Amino acid sequence: MSKLAIFGGKPVRSKNQKLATWPISDKKDGELVKKITLSNRWSFDGEYEWKFAEAFTKYQGANYGLCCANGTVGIQLALEALGIGAYDEVIVPGMTWQATAAACLDVNAVPVLTDIEPDSWNLDLDAVEANITPKTKAVIVVHLYGSTTDLDRLQKICKKHKLFLIEDCAHQHGTFWKGKGVGSIGDVSSWSFQESKVLSCGEGGFNMCKTKDIFYKIYSLRNCGRPYPASPAVFGLKKPVGMETTLQSGNFRLTEWQAAILLGGLERLDKQVKFRDANAIYLNSLLAKIPGIKPMIRRPQITQQSYFNFAFRIDPEELKVTNSQFCSALNAELSLGDAFEPPYEPLNACGLYKPLTKKRHQLNDKYWKAIDPKQYNLPICTEAHTRSGVVVHHVMLMNPRSVMDQVAEAVKKVVDNIAEVRKIKAGGGRKYRPLAV
Ligand SMILES: Cc1ncc(COP(=O)(O)O)c(C=O)c1O
Repeated sequence: MSKLAIFGGKPVRSKNQKLATWPISDKKDGELVKKITLSNRWSFDGEYEWKFAEAFTKYQGANYGLCCANGTVGIQLALEALGIGAYDEVIVPGMTWQATAAACLDVNAVPVLTDIEPDSWNLDLDAVEANITPKTKAVIVVHLYGSTTDLDRLQKICKKHKLFLIEDCAHQHGTFWKGKGVGSIGDVSSWSFQESKVLSCGEGGFNMCKTKDIFYKIYSLRNCGRPYPASPAVFGLKKPVGMETTLQSGNFRLTEWQAAILLGGLERLDKQVKFRDANAIYLNSLLAKIPGIKPMIRRPQITQQSYFNFAFRIDPEELKVTNSQFCSALNAELSLGDAFEPPYEPLNACGLYKPLTKKRHQLNDKYWKAIDPKQYNLPICTEAHTRSGVVVHHVMLMNPRSVMDQVAEAVKKVVDNIAEVRKIKAGGGRKYRPLAV
């Protein structure tokens, strides 16, 4: 047995070995940015914004789509467009980036934190059904990291209970379920183009809409309440009938420069998704052979899987270590700082999800009580975050196959030396990152 790198042994990967980096751009992107800079069209409703909106919507197979400022307001716009507001209950997963639940608070709805499946970390649909009440108006499904829940069953549940289905697709640009793009399945979907995402322009967001009425509504909500002008005519849409009046709203728009970067990214997206997917399948096949290591599930309906993060689980009973101890040893073997880390904090104990710190949420005592995250018990989310979950950013999957071999070799070395890993001081799990979410 060779000595672990964390205790001074030779690491599996030397820090001088180059790895892929993210985000990526090319010369064409730079030229388009320059062209826009020298033009007099910088803001919203420009040529490149709509060119991107139509192309991305078509790629995911949705009916209508439009850009917005970021993935947080994308969820807020989706909720508002569906008429969801004060005191309405919205089912959200207990383990997600805080924005999914925070957006519900921003429309004065009640996010109902719901536990996840242990092997996909996506919504547990039995828990969803158990949390439905007469006040429930919608389910927000988050296609988290690199897995999905059973989207056929989820659609049936929503239909049966007359609930809207909102897809938070921030993690999975390029995922297809039975050949149909995620984001085209629910009533509305929301996307993030934040720097860390697989399609990015630094900051940015998007909504896909099942009907043209939802599209018109979101157009208006993202643009200070102005009605859709039918110019430029996109998706073959004419002037809206019955939706020409103005609404109360704010500015949630995106610029032409961001659209330019997105157009470049979209051209590269499918090839990159396929490359990562093939590497993930390969890496999972290696990890599955290591005792105490459990890959995440991939449902057979998935025809292409996109990965915001690659995830796997350790068996803390068998290995008798926590995920944070495991990650410390693994990062040292791969000379990677803190690249491998536990998944998101559960929202009932999350440093960045604190609904009761905001005066705006103090509608009345009943609402205040209803949004208190401490009332929820989320055992699977907690287990994933504090004991068994390990995630790494998708850029890891953009490396050659030989790097997947190194990752598996490093995992195996850590498992082979697990008695030593137990001596590592257990950390407190994943803490929020100031930049890359
Ligand atoms: C699942 C999920 N939803 C929503 C968001 C919010 O997106 P944005 O950062 O663009 O506001 C993120 C961002 O990381 C996310 O991971």
